[in-house]
Formats: sequence, C-alpha cells, structure tokens
Amino acid sequence: MSGARRNDGSIVVFGATGFIGRGLLRELLTDPAEDSRVVAVVRSAESGARLRDRLGSAGVPLDRLSIHLFDPGAGEIVLEPAVPDVRDVHNLAAAFAFGMTAETARAVNVVLAEKITRFAAATRARRLVHVSGYRVGAHPTMPVPWSPRHRRRIYGRLGAYEASKIEADAVVRALAARLDVALTVVNPGTVIGDSRTGEADQYLGLADLVLQLSRGQLRAIPGTRNTVVPVVTVDHLARFLALVPRDPQAAGQAYWVLDDATPVLPDLVALVADELGVPAPRRRVPVVALRILPEWLTGAQKETLSFISADAYPTASATALTRRHGFDHPPVRPALQRWARFLAATAPGAATRE
Ligand SMILES: NC(=O)c1ccc[n+]([C@@H]2O[C@H](COP(=O)([O-])OP(=O)(O)OC[C@H]3O[C@@H](n4cnc5c(N)ncnc54)[C@H](OP(=O)(O)O)[C@@H]3O)[C@@H](O)[C@H]2O)c1
Repeated sequence: MSGARRNDGSIVVFGATGFIGRGLLRELLTDPAEDSRVVAVVRSAESGARLRDRLGSAGVPLDRLSIHLFDPGAGEIVLEPAVPDVRDVHNLAAAFAFGMTAETARAVNVVLAEKITRFAAATRARRLVHVSGYRVGAHPTMPVPWSPRHRRRIYGRLGAYEASKIEADAVVRALAARLDVALTVVNPGTVIGDSRTGEADQYLGLADLVLQLSRGQLRAIPGTRNTVVPVVTVDHLARFLALVPRDPQAAGQAYWVLDDATPVLPDLVALVADELGVPAPRRRVPVVALRILPEWLTGAQKETLSFISADAYPTASATALTRRHGFDHPPVRPALQRWARFLAATAPGAATRE
C-alpha cells in the first residue's frame, strides 16, 4: 500500500479551530513554499465561519483554505464535502480540559483518534500526524485494548485528560501499525503563545499559574527547585507539525517538541513576576502536599499535578530534525515574557488589574 501514497493533494486538519490547529493553519497558509489545499475539518458551519473570520482578520490568506464538516459521533469519518485527494492528516482534535469524566475524555481523545487513524488508512494518506503530549512517555506502555480494571486504575490515578491521552497514544500506534498508516507522533510541551506577539487563548495549567501570579494569588510555587514545566511556542510547534509529513525520515517516529532551555519553575515564576511587576512567592510546596490538601486551599487542580516533575525528555531527534531544516526554537525567555504579558492583559477578568 505504501507505494500508492500520494505526494500531492490536500492537507486535512482535525481540531483546526483549536489553539494549535489555528497555529498550524496559519503556518500552512502563509508558507510561501506550500501550495496545497488546506482542509479544516469542523463540527458545524458556524464554527467554520468563525474560524475563517478569525484567520482572515489576523491577515492569513484564505484562498487555499477549505472548510469541511464532519460528525465526530458517526461510526466512521465522512467529510462533507468529500476530499478526493487526501495527502496528509493532522489530528489535533481533543477534549483538553481538567475535571472531565472518563467517558467524555475517551469519546474524543481515544475513540475519535481511532476513527481518524482509520480515515488516514482509508484515504491512503501519505502521513498521519498524531499529537500526544510530553508526559505520555513518562508512564509505562500497556498493550491495548486496556482491561476495564487497568483503565479504571489509570484514569483514577492520573485524571481523565492525561489518562485518555496515554490510552489514545497506545491505540493509535497499534492501529496505525495494523493498517499500514505512516504515523508520526508529536509530543509537545506546554504550548505557550506566539513567540512574536505572545498571543494565546488557553488558560489551563501553566497559564493558570501565570494568571494567579499576575493577580497576586500565587502563594507558593508547586514542586521542588528542580521542577520544570517545559514549554514550546505555538508558532514553533506549528512549523514542526507542518514539516514532519514532508520529511520521509519522520515516518514511524515520535518527537518531543519542547524547549530544553525552559527555566526551572521557580526561575520561570521569578522571570514572569518581574515582567508583570508583581512579587514572586518564595515558598515552594511539594507535590505530595498538594495531592493531600484540598484544591480550594491550594488553588492547584489535582489533575495538573502529574505535570509537575523534574523529569527530562528525549528532545534530541526533534532538535536534529528542525536544525536539518534550518530552524530552532525561538529564544524562550522573551517568549515567556510576551506570553505572560498577553495573558495578564487579555484573560477573562484580567482588565481589573490594569
Ligand atoms: N495546548 C497544550 O498545551 C497542549 C500540550 C500538549 C498536547 N496538546 C494536545 O494538542 C492537541 C490540540 O490541543 P489544543 O491546545 O489545540 O486544544 P484546544 O484549543 O482545546 O482545541 C481542541 C480542538 O479539538 C476539537 N474538539 C473538541 N472536542 C471535540 C469533539 N467532541 N469532536 C471533534 N472535535 C473536537 C475542538 O473543536 P471545537 O472548536 O469544535 O470545539 C478544537 O478544534 C490535543 O491533542 C492536546 O491534547 C496540547
């Protein structure tokens, strides 16, 4: 089947309306070396119209963009209108939230990911790019399908978001191997705003911590002095995602796309506090204590705690790939400063501080 895969045709993006999806569309539609049709797959015509408006008002050229509808709940993926010449498929669709039930998280992060893998196989796509997350590899892999007991245990321990991403990673890899889909898995760090403008519209995890800091509500820094929450700017990640299907060596690979130069969390908090002109807390609170204490007391959602770690990640292959293609992460400290300023100025309720 591999010989029948095409080198021309359309780039199909699931999750196109999301934070990373919009970044990828911008990258694909503004790259002068790219002339392919870009298909944004959305759940409703209204969502497609909003996406088009949003990109257009940001100055992104729309002449190569097509909006196609699909029903994520259907047994198999059917695009409306159909796309006869699928070349690459990007899966950026996910329920990205904390506090979800296992059922809600699995329905999108696992079941939809499985359908998208089947779609890539049925359309003989040149490449499927599946986005997992940087903590996915931090847990031992368990062959799929998971037993109900194992699933209950992992979902109970890690929370539905992270557990479903781990399960999806295993499901997509196994299915892609079985269906002969050329797969690239991308494991991004915490995605921060555009390196040039700081622009972002996500307020979870590290962004929430930055907002607590900006409002003077962060009383202690979670973790130890070596804790790091590695970041990647949305523009660097988008460039990486756009690149991987074009590089034959990236087929069958998994890449950790995060900046090793991210300061440890206490230094990151100090950098951001200085940028925002607010005091940085000096106290640290260990993750074990945050696990025991109630959320209302600590302000830390328990589901986010498995992201608080001093682990290092295998970034060498992603760095080698981007360097081979002539680019690298933008400088991380100014990117963090711009992002923090953007968040503090634009997050819901942020104006009260100004
Ligand atoms: N952002 C990060 O820091 C980060 C870090 C590591 C990994 N990731 C992963 O990167 C991927 C993209 O994340 P993101 O930050 O761009 O998330 P996001 O901004 O929340 O976007 C999620 C996308 O998924 C779509 N979606 C949600 N529920 C859906 C459903 N039931 N059926 C079909 N589509 C649905 C949304 O479409 P609607 O507009 O229709 O809701 C949206 O396009 C996810 O796999 C996420 O786990 C993100």
